[in-house]
Amino acid sequence: MPKEKKLFIETLGCAMNVRDSEHMIAELNKQESYELTQDLSEADLIIINTCSVREKPVAKLFSEIGVFNKKKKASAKIGVCGCTASHLGKEIIKRAPSVDFVLGARNVSKIAEVVNVKHAVEIDTDYDESTYAFGEYRGNPFKAMVNISIGCDKGCTFCIVPATRGEEISIPSNLIIQEIGKAVDVGAKEVMLLGQNVNNYGRRFGGTEEKIDFTLLLRKVSAIEGLERIRFTSPHPLHMDNAFIKEFASNPKICKQIHVPLQSGSSSLLRSMKRGYSKENFLNRCDKIRTLCPEATISTDIIVGFPNESDEDFEDTMDVLEQVRFEQLFSFKYSPRPMTEAALYEEQVDLSVASERLTRLQSRHTEILDEIMDSQLGKIHEVYLDELKPHGRIAGRSDDGKLVFVDGSEEFLGKIIEVKITKTSRGALDGIVV
Ligand code: 5AD
Ligand code: SF4
Repeated sequence: MPKEKKLFIETLGCAMNVRDSEHMIAELNKQESYELTQDLSEADLIIINTCSVREKPVAKLFSEIGVFNKKKKASAKIGVCGCTASHLGKEIIKRAPSVDFVLGARNVSKIAEVVNVKHAVEIDTDYDESTYAFGEYRGNPFKAMVNISIGCDKGCTFCIVPATRGEEISIPSNLIIQEIGKAVDVGAKEVMLLGQNVNNYGRRFGGTEEKIDFTLLLRKVSAIEGLERIRFTSPHPLHMDNAFIKEFASNPKICKQIHVPLQSGSSSLLRSMKRGYSKENFLNRCDKIRTLCPEATISTDIIVGFPNESDEDFEDTMDVLEQVRFEQLFSFKYSPRPMTEAALYEEQVDLSVASERLTRLQSRHTEILDEIMDSQLGKIHEVYLDELKPHGRIAGRSDDGKLVFVDGSEEFLGKIIEVKITKTSRGALDGIVV
């Protein structure tokens, strides 16, 4: 039996990166046996799966490599993968020669090849991995993440993703269905469909596959026996047509939680972001969701301090927050990114103004969230209990995406159970099994 190697993998960024890390673990294990470790000092291979959507994590990368160099075994290899790898390429090895290889976000299937090639750099963003048969590995077997497309064509002017993940290609639906089927066979009741822009599904495939759109894909996926819950991230408000919203509202397997990334409430900023919708279009889509599906929770992403953002523009963003009352808010200060149009805009907003706006946005959102969470007391939720926690606790998500804890252990693991909420807090709910 060959000696087992130890792998330390740090994953930054979005759900797509989390799945890419799972893919890399699976591919490495096709070649030789790796055991995951949290202890950097015992690792034979260290992978940093990076994100480049904002500047901060990129700046931190090189100091982190320095720390890793001091802590790691002399023989341990370091690989920098993901979006920053795509973006900086061989520059990473120039600045940090201790890095053994660089592997882009669109090249993760090549991990087993590059791991043994000193200073290999694979960052081709035209590389088509849409039909690649990745090995099987899932961090949590109860809920499977499954990619439905790679890349992004949207070209929002603030976003580096199209430059790091390349053009959008949909994965053939038969492969998606097959992969979900396999996950269900080994215990998954829930799937998270992944893509940079999921509801643009079906615009372009690598070959001549049956061309279906996202709504039809959802229908096909929901026909999989044994699969009970479907989630997806991230959709784009522009592609939320009525047929899609109807399917979302009426298909009992689709969880009633939807991410509708706003970015800004100002129609003029939305134009310069090239988002393709106005404040009114956005509110209209949220209204449609609420009308057809009153129980749905809506989450969003907001950027403050985008170039040219005036006080009035920001008030429009606050107004949308007030009207839609997003349950989850991911909010960011604008960060100029290389290879994006907005980085060239002249009217950059003062950092202190952006910070003030971010604080105001987040504190108002916190009040809204507290009201929403407080209102849950006594309610009954169906919770998919999929994660054991310390001190005899088990946690999972309600259909509408709330984190719920109950007392219990293995007997509940992998089950969807009715829970009555007995305690609320900002981040999570506590309950008893009914
Ligand atoms: N600056 C700040 N936030 C950004 N995002 C994307 N690009 C930038 C940027 N340059 C945010 C958007 C996106 C989320 C994933 O990250 O809100 O939806
Ligand atoms: Fe970026 Fe827009 Fe693509 Fe999202 S849809 S990744 S914000 S370009």
